[in-house]
Amino acid sequence: MDLLDLMRTTNTCRYYKPDPIAPDLLAMVLDAARWAPTGGNRQPLRFIVVSEREKKLALKSLYLPIWNNYVQGIRQGSVKVGGKSGLLESADYFAQHMEEIPVLLLVCARLEDVHPTDNHLGRLSIVGGASVYPAVQNIIMAAREAGLGTALTTLHCAVEPEIKPMFNIPADISLAAVLMMGWPAREFPKKLTRRPLDEMVFDGEYGVPLAAAKAVP
Ligand SMILES: Cc1cc2nc3c(=O)[nH]c(=O)nc-3n(C[C@H](O)[C@H](O)[C@H](O)COP(=O)(O)O)c2cc1C
Repeated sequence: MDLLDLMRTTNTCRYYKPDPIAPDLLAMVLDAARWAPTGGNRQPLRFIVVSEREKKLALKSLYLPIWNNYVQGIRQGSVKVGGKSGLLESADYFAQHMEEIPVLLLVCARLEDVHPTDNHLGRLSIVGGASVYPAVQNIIMAAREAGLGTALTTLHCAVEPEIKPMFNIPADISLAAVLMMGWPAREFPKKLTRRPLDEMVFDGEYGVPLAAAKAVP
């Protein structure tokens, strides 16, 4: 499949078949992470593959209170979400059935090996994540090419202190995401719901539309 088509159709998979992922295939998909760029090539990433039901149930029980709180925030308007309708229902199903997803991949990072160039600006630092999430996206794409569905999640990161001892994660390693992975129970979408290109790409200065972006469907 053409790379752009893969990107256009790689959704957040909320419904999974129970079938396991063969270890060799999983290793091949995870290998994609190695080829991502990282600041100074410091390669801060470490991964833990969680496939044991008991551990997945433990992760679910940590997730659900945060999820329920998040949903309440959405319903009350204090948390903003964009995009398609039905998101809450499918994301709630996903949360309630987390232990049935074949693999919950803990994405961990050694923060000493992350070089945030913007942490002195008195605002939220965003650069540190740039040494982490390209590798996650590589995994998502490699999984998609193999026919596997994925869901990038971060709510668990709020309870990192509880998660670390469960998986023997050393003090200097942090949790950056939990990437869910398995065989999708529903078809991939034909095209994702996203903002038009001309609303997000500017020409020369902020706010000036790039003419060619208008023509992109
Ligand atoms: C940084 C980040 C964090 C996310 N965290 C969660 C999460 O904790 N739980 C969840 O259900 N989905 C999570 N998502 C998935 C988003 O809800 C999803 O990407 C978005 O709704 C678009 O869905 P689509 O790609 O299927 O169109 C996260 C996505 C990103 C990029």
